[in-house]
Amino acid sequence: MSSNQSENVPEFMKHFGTNAIHAGHGPDQWNCKAVMPPIFTATTFKQHAPGDPEGGYDYTRGGNPTRTSLQTCLAKLENAKYAYVYSSGMAATSTVATAVLRSGSRILAMNDLYGGTNRYFRRVIDSFNVTVDFVDASNLEKVKNALTPQTSLVWLESPTNPTLTLVDIAAIVQIAKSYPSNPVVVVDNTFMSSYFQQPLSLGADVSMQSLTKYMNGHTDVLMGALVTNRQDLADKFEFIQMSVGAVPSPYDCYLTIRGLKTLHIRMREHQRNALAVAEYLKSHKEVELVLYPGLPSHPQHELAKRQCYGFSGMVSFRMKGNAETTKKFLKHLKVFTLAESLGGCGSLIEVPSIMTHKSVPEEQRNELGITDTLMRLSIGLEETEDIIEDLATALKNAI
Ligand SMILES: Cc1ncc(COP(=O)(O)O)c(C=O)c1O
Repeated sequence: MSSNQSENVPEFMKHFGTNAIHAGHGPDQWNCKAVMPPIFTATTFKQHAPGDPEGGYDYTRGGNPTRTSLQTCLAKLENAKYAYVYSSGMAATSTVATAVLRSGSRILAMNDLYGGTNRYFRRVIDSFNVTVDFVDASNLEKVKNALTPQTSLVWLESPTNPTLTLVDIAAIVQIAKSYPSNPVVVVDNTFMSSYFQQPLSLGADVSMQSLTKYMNGHTDVLMGALVTNRQDLADKFEFIQMSVGAVPSPYDCYLTIRGLKTLHIRMREHQRNALAVAEYLKSHKEVELVLYPGLPSHPQHELAKRQCYGFSGMVSFRMKGNAETTKKFLKHLKVFTLAESLGGCGSLIEVPSIMTHKSVPEEQRNELGITDTLMRLSIGLEETEDIIEDLATALKNAI
């Protein structure tokens, strides 16, 4: 584990890279001694006698050996007992909702969330008589005041998407767990990946991730995961995986296994490039605001150092000028691609108010500062100088 504040790194994190490469599969598992896990394309498996599947698998919706290899690795990376994968991050989110919520339940959710999660909470599960209380969870008093006897789920994202606000996960867990309704606390860990943040170590019940992003890391797989130590939740997650069937294909499981093998190296490089970009933008006279938890000027830099093992590769910023200036800037970029998503090798840029967060009501967006001039960067693995040169050229041409 190499990070910028490694003193408090737990023992298992010191073996992160080794586990990412080896956990969940090994040559001795397969008769032919393959060093990479086979992609088991079979949808069904021979049974020794009725109801007695010899190899432990009966039908791929319920279980598949390639998927098991991936799930075992994901659990190991968060020092957890259980991990389950789904066909997208949103499928993982909806699995939590199905497992935890009942008619009349309330969700206490961070007010700044991925737009798709916000949309799901406001426009899908509301029809099941579930209410969402959006709260600025970076303020612990507000969290305390928003809990109700009906609150059965606390949904956090840290850092948030796109304003990179942190919430004090351990403190919120403490508040939630001492409240009589004892809500399930879930942290969406997508922006940090398992390498830079360990929600279960901070007391959360579930670490959720869109594996589509850093964990797979190559912009070619859609997948989500739920990781937990709670057997009651694990049983439900497994049951819903099989019963609803929002499962990823064995091909995608294989690609994610492959992606995980370089996660620790990629994350260090994403972070190195992101810090260079954040510092560059901060020093530019045409830039009004830079949001990156790794900058000492970030209001929660100390919390980031305490809570995370690094700062990841996401930077948000706002240029001086208006929506037209922003559009002009975007037109001149060559290394960055204007596209949604994040966490891949190639640098991406987007305008959340018009793209990923369009479905968030305008009033909520304005409150959070998600204006038409706020841009979100997913800093890739290109050469640092090329990334900065690209931003410099576009800034010059936009003014
Ligand atoms: C923070 C966060 N959570 C969840 C999701 C949803 O994941 P997916 O697109 O894999 O469904 C996204 C997607 O962008 C995200 O950024």
